[in-house]
Amino acid sequence: MKSCLDNNPALAREVWQVAEVAGYLWQKGWAERNGGNITVNVTEQVDDSLRKAPAIGEPKAIGVTLPHLRGQYFFCKGTNRRMRDLARVPMDNGSIIRITDDCAHYEIIADNEVMPTSELPSHLSVHNYLIAKGSTYKASLHTHPIELVAMSHCDRFLEKDVLTNLLWSMIPETKAFCPRGLGIVPYMLPGSVELADATIRAIDDNYDVVMWEKHGVFAVGENIMEAFDMVDTLTKSAIIYRDARSMGFEPTGMSQAQMQEISTVFHLPK
Ligand code: 13P
Ligand code: ZN
Repeated sequence: MKSCLDNNPALAREVWQVAEVAGYLWQKGWAERNGGNITVNVTEQVDDSLRKAPAIGEPKAIGVTLPHLRGQYFFCKGTNRRMRDLARVPMDNGSIIRITDDCAHYEIIADNEVMPTSELPSHLSVHNYLIAKGSTYKASLHTHPIELVAMSHCDRFLEKDVLTNLLWSMIPETKAFCPRGLGIVPYMLPGSVELADATIRAIDDNYDVVMWEKHGVFAVGENIMEAFDMVDTLTKSAIIYRDARSMGFEPTGMSQAQMQEISTVFHLPK
């Protein structure tokens, strides 16, 4: 079967990077059944033939109006599709969409009519926000990392930056590679516009990764591998914390002075 990736190596590279990350999510146990979703802004990789491609099916409402997304293209995981399937056959388990001129609808343009993820309002609202800010970030990832979700069931960890500081203090790399920490979004209905709005507020508060309480995390990055790496790094810290606790002690953690030294030496953003 013909695919829009066949004669477009740049687009194929983006989609296959998503597939690689989808495989990691499954291997890590973060992607039960259809759990999690990924979108990547592929506007730069879309070629003329795809720009001229007719829509597959009718335009569909996003649920929000996103003025900075007019004419933008995204690869999106399909709703109800499995990460482990997307890892093998990405274009059967995801699709490329175009935002229509009214900025309130999208149309699927390739390869098949795979309906995008139910978390599309959050993903597209975040992409709209990133473009408005002049950000170079192109990818967003929602996933269900076991240890981080478990920690979101503890009220103390939901206070601002308590979890950030705890996770940073477990191993130097976490602050170095996730320097903005972990924002917190209180529990809200999955797929809702309210969740999308709260996610934007948290990202605007200068976080690249935010916790959706008792559900999962949402991360943004230059590309999907970077977004994944930040979640992976935070999860490593959560596992170290859990393992120390299960060995019967509260881990000491690095001191504030040691963490400050990391910020200085790595020239980390605030
Ligand atoms: P989708 O299958 O619609 O992407 O939903 C998965 C999910 O994790 C919802 O939060
Ligand atoms: Zn989810």
